[in-house]
Amino acid sequence: MVSFLSVAATGITSFVLIHVARYISFRLSARGKLPKAPTSEASWWLGHDYRVAKNEVGVEYGRWTNMLGPVYRIKSALWQSEVVVISDHLGVKHIIDQAYTYIKSPAFQPLLIKLGGRGLVWAEGDEHRFQRKMVSPAFSISAIKKMGPSVMICIDKMIQRIQKECNDKPTVFNMCDYIPACTLEIIGQVGFGYDFGPETPNGKAILGAWQKDVQLFSTFSAFLAPILISIFPWIAKLPIKELQEDTTAKKVIHMIGHELLQEPPNMILRLHPTSHDTSRVAIRDDNGETVTSIPVKAGDSFIIPFLVMNSDAQVWGPDAHEFVPERWITEGALPSGSELPHGPYSHLSNFIDGPRVCIGWRLAVQEIKLILASMIKNFEFRDTGVKVEKYFSPSVEPFVNGEGAQLPLQVIPIQHH
Ligand code: HEM
Repeated sequence: MVSFLSVAATGITSFVLIHVARYISFRLSARGKLPKAPTSEASWWLGHDYRVAKNEVGVEYGRWTNMLGPVYRIKSALWQSEVVVISDHLGVKHIIDQAYTYIKSPAFQPLLIKLGGRGLVWAEGDEHRFQRKMVSPAFSISAIKKMGPSVMICIDKMIQRIQKECNDKPTVFNMCDYIPACTLEIIGQVGFGYDFGPETPNGKAILGAWQKDVQLFSTFSAFLAPILISIFPWIAKLPIKELQEDTTAKKVIHMIGHELLQEPPNMILRLHPTSHDTSRVAIRDDNGETVTSIPVKAGDSFIIPFLVMNSDAQVWGPDAHEFVPERWITEGALPSGSELPHGPYSHLSNFIDGPRVCIGWRLAVQEIKLILASMIKNFEFRDTGVKVEKYFSPSVEPFVNGEGAQLPLQVIPIQHH
């Protein structure tokens, strides 16, 4: 009995000592010395994560960046390891350039498979290198230029649809009922030679499912699910319909992909939503390399908040949050390139950079330019006065009074004589 007690006491003492030693060594490490978002702002069980998720995109990260600087720690939900939020552009460049050392959080894997399958967005390491090499030619400058006429056909159809529904009178439209339908139709045409128009059954199914997802992903359960799955990966295998069933988009794309494989070779890519930030986990120690002077240990996690990088007042100036397109055309109005975020287009971090730079960025930019040019040629737009907020669900989405996919605009047709 005595010996059992002494063994137990030794065990408990060793356990406590190991944890105290680990805590002290963490505190003394460069990472442990990083500033931390105020503990008073963290929930005891949901850490800072829930505060970030339930507030508008970028708001909390932006506020803490102003308070603590571009590199700081936040407390994760359910007592998981702390995460470093980093918006220092050189540190971010280091992480995204080393895409095979800093991988996407394994917690997102089940979600990525459900959304788009084991495609480019999901792949890591050699599998990613291989898939990227296969798909890249379809996104070259010349390939995107060739897509121009098909893109314009889809845009013209959207313009005609709005003109018809306007019936020459100023009308309030929810743009989320038009722009996503148009970009989906474009992807169908240029990617698969397939009609995903808003009146086709497949187009309707994908758009309807997307609208439902926007509502679903803003719920508390959708916030908690990936965190729970990251701690208990077996949850993803439970026979729960929501966990096992593929998204409508994935089902339709698989069906079409299967049909296309019966035909001569054709281009298949998979569609995935855009994001407000990206996260990375180091899979090995960074060999003494540093991220703005923090030595990195395998398992360390980072969050890169795009919105903070694109609107940091230290970099962009006091009007950082304002829409001032003149910055790009007035000489000297833009800070020097070395101070700005790194990215393939106009010093924006939206498409990230490095080996995992958004493969569709040229197509996205072409779509945005052509849609905008066609819209302002045909319509005048007025603010409806409604407050539109940005939430992440499951990409950055406009919300009005808690309802997702809402972007009301008053549209006034321009009469061309
Ligand atoms: C405004 C529109 C878009 C934005 C802001 C955007 C943004 C992004 C971002 C941030 C990533 C990196 C995600 C991460 O690694 O965490 C990404 C990856 C990707 N994007 Fe886009 N994207 C857009 C449009 C498109 C389009 C139109 C396509 C295809 C037609 C596309 C296809 C992809 C693919 C396949 C990846 C994965 C690339 C890889 O991991 O190698 N994106 N995108």
